[in-house]
Amino acid sequence: MKDMFKNSTSKEDKVQVALFGSGTGSNAETIIKTFKDHPTILPALVVSNKVDAGILNKAAFHNIPSAVISKEELQDQEKTIKVLADHKINFIVLAGFLLKIPSYLINAFPNKIINIHPALLPDFGGKGMYGMRVHEAVKRSGASKTGITIHYVDEVYDHGKVIFQRQIKLTPSDSPESIAQMVLKEEHEWYPKIIESLLHKG
Ligand code: GAR
Repeated sequence: MKDMFKNSTSKEDKVQVALFGSGTGSNAETIIKTFKDHPTILPALVVSNKVDAGILNKAAFHNIPSAVISKEELQDQEKTIKVLADHKINFIVLAGFLLKIPSYLINAFPNKIINIHPALLPDFGGKGMYGMRVHEAVKRSGASKTGITIHYVDEVYDHGKVIFQRQIKLTPSDSPESIAQMVLKEEHEWYPKIIESLLHKG
C-alpha cells in the first residue's frame, strides 16, 4: 500500500522556533506567516518581556502560544528553561528583543540564537542601540549607507558572528523615519529567508 504519510513531518520532528520580542512584532509576524505551514520549521512560541507588547497580539492572532518572561524572570534559569522545554524549543530568533540574553541561555542553545539588528554592525550597535535610536544615530553621522545585520547571539550586545548583511544606500534627504521604513522592508524580506537557509534541512 502506498505510504501516504511518507513525506509528511510530524510537529515533533520540526525545528521548533521561539520568537523573542519586546515591541510591535512586525518581523515576528512575517516569520510566523512564512513558516506557519512549513514542512520542517514551526513557529512554536512567542516570548516577550513586556505584557503589553504588540508581538503578543500578533501571536494570539495567528494562534501561536506565547509567554511573558519579565526582565527579572529572565534571570531565573530554571523558570525560563522550563518554559522553552515545555514547548520543545530548539532554536531562538530575536526580533526586536531588547534585553540582554543571559549566559545560561546562550550555553543551553549554542549557535542556536540569532538576532537582527537594524544597521550594519559593528557600526551603530551596542547597549542602548535599538529601534529609532539606531536610525537617528545613522542620520546624525551623515553615513552614506545603512542596512541590516543578522548574527548569532553571544554574551556581548550586537557582537556575535555575522550571518548576513544587506546594505541600503542613503541620500542626504533621508530622515530617521524614512531610514526606518527602508530597513524594516529589508528585514521582512531577508529574515525569513536566512532562517530558512539555516534551519531547513530538506
Ligand atoms: C527591528 O527593526 C529590529 O531590527 C530592531 O527592532 C525592530 C523591531 O521591530 N532590533 C533592534 O534594534 C535590536 N538592537 P518589530 O518589532 O516590528 O519586528
